[in-house]
Amino acid sequence: MDAVFTVQNVNYAYSTTSDLALNDISLTITQGSRVAIMGANGSGKSTLLRILDGLYFPQSGSVTAFDHPLDEAHLMDEAYAHAFRRRVAFVFQNPDVQLFNPTVFDEVAFGPLQLRWDKPTIIKKVAETLDLLEISHLRDRAPHRLSGGEKKRVAIASVLVLDPEVILLDEPTAALDPKSQSRVVDFLVDWGAGKKTVVVATHDLDTVPDIADDAYIFKQGKIVAHDTPRNLLANHQLLLDANLVHAHHHYHDDGKPHSHPHLHFGHAHDHQ
Ligand SMILES: Nc1ncnc2c1ncn2[C@@H]1O[C@H](COP(=O)(O)OP(=O)(O)OP(=O)(O)O)[C@@H](O)[C@H]1O
Ligand SMILES: [Mg+2]
Repeated sequence: MDAVFTVQNVNYAYSTTSDLALNDISLTITQGSRVAIMGANGSGKSTLLRILDGLYFPQSGSVTAFDHPLDEAHLMDEAYAHAFRRRVAFVFQNPDVQLFNPTVFDEVAFGPLQLRWDKPTIIKKVAETLDLLEISHLRDRAPHRLSGGEKKRVAIASVLVLDPEVILLDEPTAALDPKSQSRVVDFLVDWGAGKKTVVVATHDLDTVPDIADDAYIFKQGKIVAHDTPRNLLANHQLLLDANLVHAHHHYHDDGKPHSHPHLHFGHAHDHQ
């Protein structure tokens, strides 16, 4: 299978004095795969996505996208950068950095306008995308005055409308209520019928088996595990070590303390 991204021995630090945010990361993301990057706060998930999106460049190691080096020199080339940005889209963890238009409609229409789509196509595609994310009623609202979850859905819509080949999503379900969460998850499950590539950074373990076939666990900038979501989620010790679950402490009738990993996925809550 064709590789969309090849990351080799990447090291990245935000400053010369800070610890490595990514420490010797190597991974390959193949076309049509759906990959989850899991890890506790500060483990390097967002940093990896920014590198895959060509926003940051590693201090050492290499990244290729579609068999071409993804580095500063190549992205200076306008044609290369334009082609790359057409193919790869990024939904940021914080929607505030992504939303800058006066209305939700303008926000979602912004990309298509930049690409000079004709007006009827823009109107049709924007309406379809707003409908998909159930935000049609917010069409004329100011994005910066929406709730966190509404903003997130607008940010996702503004990217989906362009129908990219690869979508990088940073915590797509984090601010969403259960209904919106399942809309986004359903969408990610169905999107592109296996042709699109999806990379999702998340600590929402419950959604991972639905939205990904391949998963990595990051800890302090390193990959500590790579397997199917089901295998990773079945390994309670691994999840505890990576701070993805926490141990609950209980007292039973015999008065002895007892703890077990707190995991919603496939976990029977037989202790109170
Ligand atoms: N802009 C920044 N400047 C300096 N250090 C940063 C910056 N962004 C992240 N870091 C540091 O880099 C490391 C990795 O951060 P990153 O944002 O990639 O983690 P994350 O896994 O996405 O965490 P979260 O789950 O909280 O979103 C952390 O130690 C963090 O403090
Ligand atoms: Mg993050």
